[in-house]
Amino acid sequence: MDLILRGATLPDGRTGIDIAIKGGKIAALEAGIGAGAAREIDVSGRLVTPPFIDAHFHMDATLTYGYPRYNESGTLLEGIELWHDLKPSLSHDWYIERALEYCDWAVGRGLLAIRSHVDTTDPTLGAVAALVEVREQVKDYIDLQLVAFPQDGYLRSPIGVENLAKALDMGVDVVGGIPHFERTMDEGAESVRQLCAVAAERGLRIDMHCDESDDPHSRHIETLAAETIRLGLEGRVTGSHLSSMHSMDNYYVSKLIPLMIEADIQVIANPTANMLLMGRHDTYPKRRGMTRVKELMAAGLNVSFGQDSVMDPWGSLNTGDVLDAAHMAVHAGHLSGRDEIIACFRAVTENPARAMGLEGYGLEIGCNADLVVLQAADPVEAVRLRPVRLYVMRRGNIIAESAPEEAKLTLPGRPGSTDFTRQTRPPE
Ligand code: FE2
Repeated sequence: MDLILRGATLPDGRTGIDIAIKGGKIAALEAGIGAGAAREIDVSGRLVTPPFIDAHFHMDATLTYGYPRYNESGTLLEGIELWHDLKPSLSHDWYIERALEYCDWAVGRGLLAIRSHVDTTDPTLGAVAALVEVREQVKDYIDLQLVAFPQDGYLRSPIGVENLAKALDMGVDVVGGIPHFERTMDEGAESVRQLCAVAAERGLRIDMHCDESDDPHSRHIETLAAETIRLGLEGRVTGSHLSSMHSMDNYYVSKLIPLMIEADIQVIANPTANMLLMGRHDTYPKRRGMTRVKELMAAGLNVSFGQDSVMDPWGSLNTGDVLDAAHMAVHAGHLSGRDEIIACFRAVTENPARAMGLEGYGLEIGCNADLVVLQAADPVEAVRLRPVRLYVMRRGNIIAESAPEEAKLTLPGRPGSTDFTRQTRPPE
């Protein structure tokens, strides 16, 4: 064996597990593996998880916060306007420099797979060319999946159709869309039909920005699900955002969710982003704008979370830590049951692995030895603390390491330090 991690706690609750790694794969996974590895690390009581995954991101826009100005209204539409003004000044080198800097942050957070949308409505396709290059540069440590995203509208932009095809020809992995931004509801539905046809013809997955709107009548997810079934694309199609479901009539939703199940639609919510962007036309009460995560999870749909924005025209905050999205989802979606918090942890780990079709992901013998050791005892504590990633491993090699967090205390009669951890499970 090359390496053994001793005494891990796994996300499914098993404790005291040794994980043996050989040739970049998990070779054994059980309590009490015998000695015989080049290196051993004691991870007793620490949660060891497969890597974090950001199911929905915009790497072309990341780390541009403040250029050419700040988004003062905080709305989605001002963000799109700002991005439009910024695009002509984005050089190839700046796309690459920001993306690589962000990928460094990601590795430090144990975030080793990212699905990034990339704007295809820039006449130069500069973002596509740069991110295809970045995907190659980071492939040894991050699985970067790219989605052809017609930001200015597939039909509404005069170059929308042509450039999306060009982006796919350049090697972009997934077909995107933005039906709620087309000129009319009819054109939105038509864009869904045309984009599904493109994906079916090329044998690609689909991930559309779908109904990122407070308008309860924005129902493009219905067309997306119906087209998925008609074309036999079940399980390969993602609805991202689905914000309008938050505002929809309950009776309509009672018909919509079974249709989504029939189509095996992959759901991606963006809790931090949509809490910030949605409900901006409301006085009080203000809608939250996160899709119905609780109901979609309860119905058995595969729900993942993404950050959407890290320091870009749409969002000034976020950190590269997808546990922030899980933490926000717990609050915004009333997902406070213990099993629900654990489900939110899965929404930034194993669920997006399924949505993205990642191979070799997981904690089974034969899976890639891509592992993250957290300064936390279990998934609930991980969501609460968003803790330090003590070790991040890719194919069995340690690619990031951080010292445990600890505050030194100088309080009379109290311990000399605290590390903020406290196992949420009662002692047995
Ligand atoms: Fe997005």
